[in-house]
Amino acid sequence: VLSDSNARLAAARRLTSRRGRREAGRFLAEGAQAVREALASPGVVVDVFATATALDRHRDLLGPSAVSVSEISERAASALSETMAPQGLIAVCERVDVSLATALDRAPALIVVLVEPNDPGNAGAILRTADAAGADAVVFAGDAVDPYNGKTVRATAGSLFHVDVVLAADPSATVRACRQAGLMTVATAGAAAREIDGLALQRPTAWLFGNEAHGLAEEMIAECDFTARVPVYGRAESLNLAAAAAVCLYASARAQRG
Ligand SMILES: C[S@@+](CC[C@H](N)C(=O)[O-])C[C@H]1O[C@@H](n2cnc3c(N)ncnc32)[C@H](O)[C@@H]1O
Repeated sequence: VLSDSNARLAAARRLTSRRGRREAGRFLAEGAQAVREALASPGVVVDVFATATALDRHRDLLGPSAVSVSEISERAASALSETMAPQGLIAVCERVDVSLATALDRAPALIVVLVEPNDPGNAGAILRTADAAGADAVVFAGDAVDPYNGKTVRATAGSLFHVDVVLAADPSATVRACRQAGLMTVATAGAAAREIDGLALQRPTAWLFGNEAHGLAEEMIAECDFTARVPVYGRAESLNLAAAAAVCLYASARAQRG
């Protein structure tokens, strides 16, 4: 059992802060599903830490792994966890994000651009939905929540390792690059005149979604080819960001896949 003061464990603990993750270029993936998907991605996992209980429970998962697996105490596992119910199984991973140019070079048919999202759970849920809907990339644009935040990684349920994740400082430049790559850019807003079903969604599309509290700025909306809304039939003021993204992405997936 590694001592709680072990240097590798101390380095892993620093990855629970955004600054620590940025400095190391690494992040933590917690729980069986996230660790399984991380291990399936070549060259991503650097280290695995597990409590005695987790080692016993996940023998199948850790047995054939070429990566070093170290036993740690329950206390050390809690210190690495960002959740109320630590899973006792944590992988230290290299960052997996790619540049916007790389993501666009792969001729994507469906992209999500999140402009300044700040809820880690929403970000994770959208990554998971984007993966399920067959989207190619999710862009975190502007002053966005860190996709490597523990809560986000957990909420992606492994999908973080399946789609291209892009960190883009400038939302306007992101829209311009998407348009140059031949994508139809669609801004979403509850007050838009057009409904999403009126769009030619079989075309390669980049969907833009706004911040949970402020939505998309008018200047952002003006840069896009279209603005569209998901119709609200009841009395809800708007949809939750992740719910709006799910409706739009599946509308695209159905149109593109027939
Ligand atoms: C909770 S909303 C922001 C609410 C804000 N009061 C506004 O009016 O923009 C956050 C994001 O979810 C998406 N959204 C929410 N409701 C929507 C709807 N009915 N149609 C399309 N997108 C919607 C948009 O991307 C929006 O920027």
